[in-house]
Amino acid sequence: IKHLRSAADLDAATATLILDTAAEMAALAGREVKKLPTLRGRTVVNLFYEDSTRTRISFEAAAKRLSADVINFSAKGSSVSKGESLKDTALTLQAMGADAVVIRHSASGAPHRLASWVDGSVINAGDGTHEHPTQALLDAYTMRSRLGRLDGLKVAIVGDVLHSRVARSNVLLLSTLGAQVTLVGPPTLIPVDIAAALEPKTKVSYDLDSVLPDMDVVMMLRVQTERMQDSYFPSAREYSRRYGLDLARMRKLPEHAIVMHPGPMNRGMEITPEVADSSRSTIVEQVANGVSARMAVLYLLLGGKA
Ligand code: CP
Repeated sequence: IKHLRSAADLDAATATLILDTAAEMAALAGREVKKLPTLRGRTVVNLFYEDSTRTRISFEAAAKRLSADVINFSAKGSSVSKGESLKDTALTLQAMGADAVVIRHSASGAPHRLASWVDGSVINAGDGTHEHPTQALLDAYTMRSRLGRLDGLKVAIVGDVLHSRVARSNVLLLSTLGAQVTLVGPPTLIPVDIAAALEPKTKVSYDLDSVLPDMDVVMMLRVQTERMQDSYFPSAREYSRRYGLDLARMRKLPEHAIVMHPGPMNRGMEITPEVADSSRSTIVEQVANGVSARMAVLYLLLGGKA
């Protein structure tokens, strides 16, 4: 494949190849091989119109470990403030010889538009409420490395599904790889048709307590207050009481089950600090795995091997 705009761009064989390549990248890093010459002379542009900590830094680290030249573009402080369009910005980057553009944008579909304007690969680093496919890849990688498989895994994705690009990409990728996803949250934050529209096998529940004992993975989503309207979200206290993961709820999970969160977290809202920092939490591991997963994506897309 040339672009990674959606988790739907990945069939099972390609997704598995990316996860296997990420494992090789992690193994090399574990053997103190910090840098590979693979992308020497290639240019990766990080084009970020929305804030990011994990994704931007890990794409930069991944590209540098593959010896690519990295250009970091942030909309803040650029000519975007003078009204320059995404298309003109893209053509400027194209003129500078970008081999890959990693884009985060508040508009759903921005990576698809970008792919029609530039010659290089386009990688979606989060577009509006639509998708975040490399987050889904690092999440799948984390599940597979902790639990040994993806096929047949039972995964609950909990919380603000309505606004979550992480949830959408995870539903698509996990279903492709044979996992069974249950979306859990208040009815106002799970659009009635979302599960069926994304993947018909996806289940929906509004009762977290009844779902937990059957799960291998529980993935808590950030409550996206910046995208929220009052009608969706009655109160933080009520939300935490029904859908927050605290120690008492975590004990309802089977002993082997893991707790995930893509970050950034609202500690005390969707997850308590005790759970986030517990030995079952893979939150820090997910960040570390993000570098290996993004190395694999850059290596395979720019090397034409995916
Ligand atoms: N998980 C994630 O996308 O985090 P950032 O917004 O910090 O990149």
